[in-house]
Amino acid sequence: MSAVGILTISDRGAAGDYEDRSGPLLRELITALTGWQVERQEVIPDDLETIAATLRDWCAAGLDLILTTGGTGFAPRDVTPEATRTVLEREAPGIAEALRAESLKVTRHAMLSRGVAGIRGRTLIINLPGNPKAIRENMDVLLPVLPHALELLTGSSSGEHGHRTV
Ligand code: MTE
Repeated sequence: MSAVGILTISDRGAAGDYEDRSGPLLRELITALTGWQVERQEVIPDDLETIAATLRDWCAAGLDLILTTGGTGFAPRDVTPEATRTVLEREAPGIAEALRAESLKVTRHAMLSRGVAGIRGRTLIINLPGNPKAIRENMDVLLPVLPHALELLTGSSSGEHGHRTV
């Protein structure tokens, strides 16, 4: 069973000025649609060092997957991709490409997400946009692929089974 961390990155959410709906939605989707365990969940401000330190800490704790939400756009405080890059050892650009490509079919605003994805040790980290609608659309794309991605990462892939495309 995979261990998951959900990190909401939002100044207003962290200050309590606004209720985080994206973190709880991610938790609900993970819990309902996978057998995985959400072991860490936090709301932190759009601060590069805080984001990077939290990601490093959660990777060291042995999480298999960290999903971040928010801070991927063009606002001056949006630094989630930059913070994530500082902790990644291997980028997984195909994931971010697929999320943007599929999201572009829904909204042209998808091109405004600068989110990245990649691997630190045995942890897969994926940046998602902030709003709940975007979360649902991105998780529709991600969920079918994540089990095989995590199998490969932890070395528990069971041969051809994992390579099925349907
Ligand atoms: N992707 C999907 N699938 N659906 C959306 O509604 N919104 C976009 C984009 N990606 C959106 C999406 C918008 S409006 C922005 S500004 C960027 O994600 C960045 O969002 P963030 O700053 O909350 O991370």
